[in-house]
Amino acid sequence: MAQLELIEKLNNALSWELRAINMYAHYSAYVQGIQRLHLAKHFTAEVTESIGHANIVRSAIVKLGGEATTERNNMPIIHTTDYIEMLKQSYDTEIKASKVYGEILETLKSHDDDELYDAVESIYFAELRSVEEVRMLLN
Ligand SMILES: [Fe+2]
Repeated sequence: MAQLELIEKLNNALSWELRAINMYAHYSAYVQGIQRLHLAKHFTAEVTESIGHANIVRSAIVKLGGEATTERNNMPIIHTTDYIEMLKQSYDTEIKASKVYGEILETLKSHDDDELYDAVESIYFAELRSVEEVRMLLN
């Protein structure tokens, strides 16, 4: 039962990563003006990071004997060409992701799997760094 709950939570995290991949790829394509010079690269780097996180989470689900989701989280991805709006959407996404991983870490405290705990913790810290990075970009 605890195993099923953990798989469900990891699938939720995976769905958020799949959404992040789409959102950041979209913003990288649409960001305009002088901001495009650096933000297109920034958003592309976020795509790469999200793919990496998704791979780690997916592998964990496989290891636990679960079925990894192929569906992204259904929270709408807001289309915009306004880079400030893109950054606000990024901020919301990173906050949400760090919350999701924080909750998984709590669940993992009652599982005897140091390797998985370490893997999720490193993603959690990466999400926290992203929150701070986007917060600074929005200042
Ligand atoms: Fe992530």
